[in-house]
Amino acid sequence: MLYDVVVVGSGIAGLFSALYAKKNGSSVAILTKSNPFRSNSAVASGGINAVINISEYDSILHHIKDTIDGSDGLINKKNIEDMCHDAPEIIQELKKMGVNFDSDEEGNIMQRPFGGTTATRTCYIADKTGSAIIQTLLMECRNQGIHILSNHQFLSIAKYKGRLSGVTLLRRRDSQVIALGCKSLVLAGGGYAGIFRGHSTNAQESSGDIIAAALRANMKLSNMEFVQFHPTTLKMNGALITEAARAEGAYLVDENGERFTNELQTRDKLARDIATHMMNGHKVYLDFRHLPRELIETKLPSTQRMAFNSAGIDITTELLEITPSAHYTIGGIWTRGDTSTDIPGIFACGECAVTGVHGANRLGGNSLLEGIYFGRLAGTEAGKFAKRRDFLPIDYADINKELRRIDVIIEGESHFNINSMRKNLGNALFKNVGVFRDEKSLVDAYEYVEYLIEKEYGLHCVSKDRENNVELSSILEFKNALYIAEAMILSALKREESRGVHYRSDFVQRNDQRFFTPSYVNLLDENLFQITFENVVFDGIWHKIKKVLTSIKG
Ligand code: FUM
Repeated sequence: MLYDVVVVGSGIAGLFSALYAKKNGSSVAILTKSNPFRSNSAVASGGINAVINISEYDSILHHIKDTIDGSDGLINKKNIEDMCHDAPEIIQELKKMGVNFDSDEEGNIMQRPFGGTTATRTCYIADKTGSAIIQTLLMECRNQGIHILSNHQFLSIAKYKGRLSGVTLLRRRDSQVIALGCKSLVLAGGGYAGIFRGHSTNAQESSGDIIAAALRANMKLSNMEFVQFHPTTLKMNGALITEAARAEGAYLVDENGERFTNELQTRDKLARDIATHMMNGHKVYLDFRHLPRELIETKLPSTQRMAFNSAGIDITTELLEITPSAHYTIGGIWTRGDTSTDIPGIFACGECAVTGVHGANRLGGNSLLEGIYFGRLAGTEAGKFAKRRDFLPIDYADINKELRRIDVIIEGESHFNINSMRKNLGNALFKNVGVFRDEKSLVDAYEYVEYLIEKEYGLHCVSKDRENNVELSSILEFKNALYIAEAMILSALKREESRGVHYRSDFVQRNDQRFFTPSYVNLLDENLFQITFENVVFDGIWHKIKKVLTSIKG
């Protein structure tokens, strides 16, 4: 099958890039391994930031300033400015497509205050903003004749003589490896917070598959150490309790009913306050009991339902125990301002891409905005690129390599339990690469990942059935997760400072002299990563000033 543009990922960035590539006259296919409602975009419930009414209290400049102030450095200022400028128009576009933002009686879009912002700027649809937007976008994609290939797992980027020629996929229905030819490719397949299994708001599918494939294709990654821990997730399973809860007035209290922190500070600081309070022996709860029942039922209905169904808690009368969990990964595939990457014809956007708009700490409500802004751009650029190119042949060796890999995983004798290995990885990462990390914990995590990598070769399917073999998908995801975990840990080890969501207990200060710079991960050999840092100046252009540190894992 041939498509001008292939988009990998069905979150908000993927769907928007598909729509914009299609506008350009391209034939477009979206690949998605599971249900689009399991994407992180669908999980992001609380809202999307945009200045709707300019006043003495809010303006585009305020939005830009809040984003920069919250970031703790490492930003791309021009990208932030462009994104914030386009935000109001993006909300209008969503409205035109049929997204029904909550509005007052006069039809004005209502907004709520999110953490780290100086104004009430987050537009929402109750507490299901992401999934409501996804629903509308999926309909729009179908109406526009975009092919959605669901239940297809992305395996690798296919190249012909070093140039993009397509992608290889696992068709999960029958475990066949197939190839799609394309002229340009948009990588929009989400982040890697799901590798903190058992301690993540993400579906376990968010295992960084796309980022791992990009690294294997010799694309550069950046800022892999920056993992955002959402302050409020259900204690028992890490499910997200949206920031909308605190925006609507819920308190954070301990077992004595005492409030101990500012509920609407940036997520990095709030997660640390909560984790510290827990380390001091306290339990931490969200308290909704003072809020009017009607407000809960209209603004937080999904939260109310989820608390009851998952934890048996009636939030109108009872406290809901919470803990921070891995939620969003800031690091990923390095991109230029136009979403292009190291490889001509490949564009990246959404959580899997590093655009520099979050710096070292993301404001809640800015990820949906980023997904749409850069999704539109990636789709437009991919469409333009496709017009200038012809299809290149798919090298059969690429397919054959993947076929053999799949056959070995299915046919080999199983020695380990994939589920417990994934859980063990999640526990080790949360303990050692969590809200707080230091050299010892990172080395422990690294050694554990190395141990799992040795064992990984003994991972085979117990069931040899080729029809929808979930174990096969899980093993492929786990292999990617280990790869990504290694890159994340090595980057965190080398960044000997605390900045944004990356807090080193052994280097508690931000160190601009050494680390006012993104980190980069390059692949030197199949299993050999190089971590580098470069200095950056704040004029919107990334400047190489000096290489501070190079580490070669050997
Ligand atoms: O808490 C939330 O609703 C998450 C939103 C986000 O990550 O942007």
